[in-house]
Amino acid sequence: MKKYIKPILWGLLVILVLIQFIRPARNQSNDETYGIHTKYAVPQEVDAILKTACNDCHSNNTIYPWYANVQPVAWWLANHVEEGKHHLNLSEFTKSRVAVQNHKFDEIIDMIKEGEMPMTSYTLIHRDAVMSDAQKQLVIDWAQSMMDTLKSQYPADSLVLKRKG
Ligand code: HEC
Repeated sequence: MKKYIKPILWGLLVILVLIQFIRPARNQSNDETYGIHTKYAVPQEVDAILKTACNDCHSNNTIYPWYANVQPVAWWLANHVEEGKHHLNLSEFTKSRVAVQNHKFDEIIDMIKEGEMPMTSYTLIHRDAVMSDAQKQLVIDWAQSMMDTLKSQYPADSLVLKRKG
């Protein structure tokens, strides 16, 4: 049994080295053509919170830590970013129908109220992304005021989210 340990460890090392060459594409674009700012007023304080607490997973521009160069960590991060953007992308916010945008503001409120976002696996490392109660309230109030603005600008039925199919 003992004679196998060395070859197995070498094998693992070789695999670890080889997977370093399989790098996921980076999520880094400055294209904000459909960015949330193009349509909605985002006060500076709110913007700063979104940047530190949400943008890494919910925009087209992630700020990568050094360990994002290490596989398989980078795969795990890329997966979070992809999943996160699929649900909410602040860089492409205005691409969706207005009813969807309205719904996303509602979801933002829910996620923050329930303490589900930012994800715990993120805040464990990114301590600056931990939101104080005041910061939470600021973002919640902002999202609510965006919904109120939409309500005053659009006919009620255009803000109703109709399920596809
Ligand atoms: C580390 C990555 C990460 C960070 C940081 C993050 N999220 Fe998310 N978010 C995700 C992932 C992954 C999902 C989809 C899976 C899920 O719902 O858990 C998601 C889903 C969501 C959704 C959609 C929920 C739904 O019901 O579809 C909203 C809204 C959201 N996040 C808001 C936020 C806000 C607001 C912040 C900042 C305060 C934030 N997230 C920070 C990764 C992240």
